[in-house]
Amino acid sequence: MGAGKSTLGVDLSARIGRTFVDVDEAIETQEGVSIAEVFRERGEAAFRGLEEERTCALLRGTPPAVMSLGGGALGSAATRAALAERAITVFVPVDVDAAWERTRESDRPLAQEEAEFRRLYDERQPLYRETADAVARDVHDAVLAAAGVAVERGVLARLGELVPGEGPVALVSDPHVGGIHGADAQLALGRRLAETHELPQGEAAKTTAAVERLWRGLRVKRDAALVALGGGATTDAAGFAAATYLRGIPWVPVPSTLLAQVDAAIGGKTAIDLPEAKNLVGAFHWPVRTVVDPALLATLPERERREGMAEVVKAGLLAGEQLWELREDELVRRAAAFKAAVCLRDPHDEGERAILNLGHTFAHALEAAAGYEEVTHGRAVALGLLAALRLSGRPVDPVEDALDPKPVWVDRERAWAALQRDKKRGLVLLGDEGPHWDVQVPEQDVRRALDELICH
Ligand SMILES: NC(=O)c1ccc[n+]([C@@H]2O[C@H](COP(=O)([O-])OP(=O)(O)OC[C@H]3O[C@@H](n4cnc5c(N)ncnc54)[C@H](O)[C@@H]3O)[C@@H](O)[C@H]2O)c1
Repeated sequence: MGAGKSTLGVDLSARIGRTFVDVDEAIETQEGVSIAEVFRERGEAAFRGLEEERTCALLRGTPPAVMSLGGGALGSAATRAALAERAITVFVPVDVDAAWERTRESDRPLAQEEAEFRRLYDERQPLYRETADAVARDVHDAVLAAAGVAVERGVLARLGELVPGEGPVALVSDPHVGGIHGADAQLALGRRLAETHELPQGEAAKTTAAVERLWRGLRVKRDAALVALGGGATTDAAGFAAATYLRGIPWVPVPSTLLAQVDAAIGGKTAIDLPEAKNLVGAFHWPVRTVVDPALLATLPERERREGMAEVVKAGLLAGEQLWELREDELVRRAAAFKAAVCLRDPHDEGERAILNLGHTFAHALEAAAGYEEVTHGRAVALGLLAALRLSGRPVDPVEDALDPKPVWVDRERAWAALQRDKKRGLVLLGDEGPHWDVQVPEQDVRRALDELICH
């Protein structure tokens, strides 16, 4: 009571594109009277019966939705069982004084007398913690919970319990990350660790040959989960192996670069490259859990951190918030939550998820013109963001201040030819009310924006 579940629930449902159901309101609609009246006229036991029946029916019969439960609903064993089977349960903690202040003047039947309110609060806390799959301080935590993403410094130590189920685990990493963080992951998996595998370091992991070696090395059965520890190349390739091995086994990315923590490991896209193009073969395979430990970034070279910052700035521009100015742990949490929300709204990339390409059409053109070697993806994205901001008629200082991208030496005609191949879907631009995708922009404006990114 008084934790702010309804406010947070409405906000969450808008962010992840689901309807919002308030169980108390559903009961009032069904009974045609207020909860206070049900309590007064029929007593608490009758109310609890109604609450259990409505909650279980809604849990079993509603398409994915955000549901706000009454504070006493978890007293029912049937409700707890239905939650375990059908829901991701998020606990929204509140301090008892704040909760009392917020509810004391309401007509809530169990918030009329302070001593009783405090007793109930103490009695219910352990039940909330036991039942909850995640704890949410705010809507960003709730979005992450809905996406199955655990973000917390030190969370790697809990990997064994965070991989859902009790089955065996195949751990996949690259030799470099495995050498630094592999032992901690193995220790955390404990007895569940059945086998370990290596993919080559970096983009070399995303080849058919590397994935074939992994497929052929795997011994686990379908009761197992694959855990992918590493950067975006590792999570992309291992995630693809998980999507295809035995027609698909569950997987858990443990991203270890900033880019993978805020982007690559979130949203269920897995892929490998072909000589013809990057990410040409892949699958949508949403992880059963994603374990994001910002402490892993302590060993990340500065060069790799900059790659990730370009995506953080992109997420911040799309969200309309200066995410890039936050401290590292918070920056990871917020940027990951932003991407998770977009992907929950459009899991199969059929519409709005296209906004995540902000600046990327230009970036791909520059990379293609440079032959993918001389221009890092992060620098190309930073330049692409400059172009997107200019075409949107917005100041470019956020990108200049946070990323300071310098123009690149590439062949203008090659870049222009590559951009025209990629531009079929239109561009992503920023408007006053947020991003638009599939925007058709006059050719000469696009050409000018591209030219400004290239050294004269
Ligand atoms: N699936 C998606 O939605 C998605 C989104 C964005 C990018 N991606 C993909 O992600 C890939 C790029 O990922 P990346 O930038 O993480 O690069 P990466 O996976 O190649 O890792 C970069 C380097 O950092 C090292 N490294 C990783 N973690 C480390 C750590 N904690 N300490 C020290 N070294 C560490 C790795 O060994 C590697 O050499 C690309 O293939 C891209 O296509 C996928």
